[in-house]
Amino acid sequence: MKTLAGSIVEILAAVLSKKSSYVPLHIPEFEGNEKDYVAECIDSNFVSYLGQFVNRFEGMLSDFTGAKRVLAMVNGTTALHICLKVLGVKAGDEVLLPALTFVATANAVNYCGAVSHFVDVEEKTLGMDPIKLREHLGEIAAIDENGCLNKSSGARIRACIPMHTFGHPVDMDALMEVCNDYHIDVVEDAAESLGAYYKGRHTGGFGRVAALSFNGNKIITTGGGGAIMTNEDGLADLARHMSTTAKMPHKWEYRHDMVGFNYRMPALNAALGCAQMEKLPGFLTRKRRLAQKYQRAFESLDKVRFFVEPESAKSNYWLNALLLEKPDMALRNTILEATNDAGIMTRPVWTLLHKLPMFTSCPRMDLSVSEGLEARIINIPSSACLGDI
Ligand SMILES: Cc1ncc(COP(=O)(O)O)c(C=O)c1O
Repeated sequence: MKTLAGSIVEILAAVLSKKSSYVPLHIPEFEGNEKDYVAECIDSNFVSYLGQFVNRFEGMLSDFTGAKRVLAMVNGTTALHICLKVLGVKAGDEVLLPALTFVATANAVNYCGAVSHFVDVEEKTLGMDPIKLREHLGEIAAIDENGCLNKSSGARIRACIPMHTFGHPVDMDALMEVCNDYHIDVVEDAAESLGAYYKGRHTGGFGRVAALSFNGNKIITTGGGGAIMTNEDGLADLARHMSTTAKMPHKWEYRHDMVGFNYRMPALNAALGCAQMEKLPGFLTRKRRLAQKYQRAFESLDKVRFFVEPESAKSNYWLNALLLEKPDMALRNTILEATNDAGIMTRPVWTLLHKLPMFTSCPRMDLSVSEGLEARIINIPSSACLGDI
């Protein structure tokens, strides 16, 4: 009898029409104007953040997402850091975030001297669970004139960072309601969700600020890069100031009015980004096509299913995932072994953040769904080019 791991290898090989000896998890594609724009940028001499390309890239992101203001940063982690800074997150504050996310979400909190407070996720979105969050806050939080207080730790709960896992939107209506009720500002970690929509609105447009990432493995890439999205001019102006070494405008004087950061995206990266943005609609179509093929192919298999976009959402299918019916670390690892041995790159989800040594003492709620998902999720090849097969 065929094992589950054997069947998964067979199905993946069939969907991917595997001809090469190795199928990576996610590769970038540079088949548009990338080289021309980078060459144009070099020829212009404006290779840092001055020149036309940064403005152009920010404008393209703003048009695509509907965000009033977009600011390109050196990466998604720095974008998250500035998002938290402009909302006034400071040393000793607590910030709510899912245990199931990439480490950068929690790192940005630590850069502010604040503490991560881990929240469980729900299976239908793989993102923060608003019902469980409300229950948890009902037990530990109080609201006073300064906002939300964690009665157990005595710290302010200043912000909440929902993350749209693999490009699948969080249930934002319900989450915003909880955060509004508890006077907690929302920062969306939309690093993985460019091109993903919740109820017809682009992710990143629900909280006061949001962060995107254009790392090499993302749906579009600038090599390394990120961006802040916001509809509030005040926050955007402050983010621009903080990320440009807090330099005061002047024709020639070097005056800085706070300890700022050198986080602005260089024009060379933005040039790449402009070319990638031209290709984004095509990437989205091909990724959706690949996801539909996976969905059909895995329908016949018991004990595992292909994760499809949540109701009310249009995902970007940035990173495709299989879900085992039940948590089973040994089975998960056998499948990872078999697929990688067969030359098909697969990966587990991130180790839950509360298990990492620097975050073990952070406050947290019951994380049973996240714990289960850690032993169920397997990411499978997701490059846009695989949608062409
Ligand atoms: C959920 C999440 N948050 C933040 C980041 C950080 O982005 P970057 O790698 O551009 O710093 C990433 C991606 O790398 C991510 O997947």
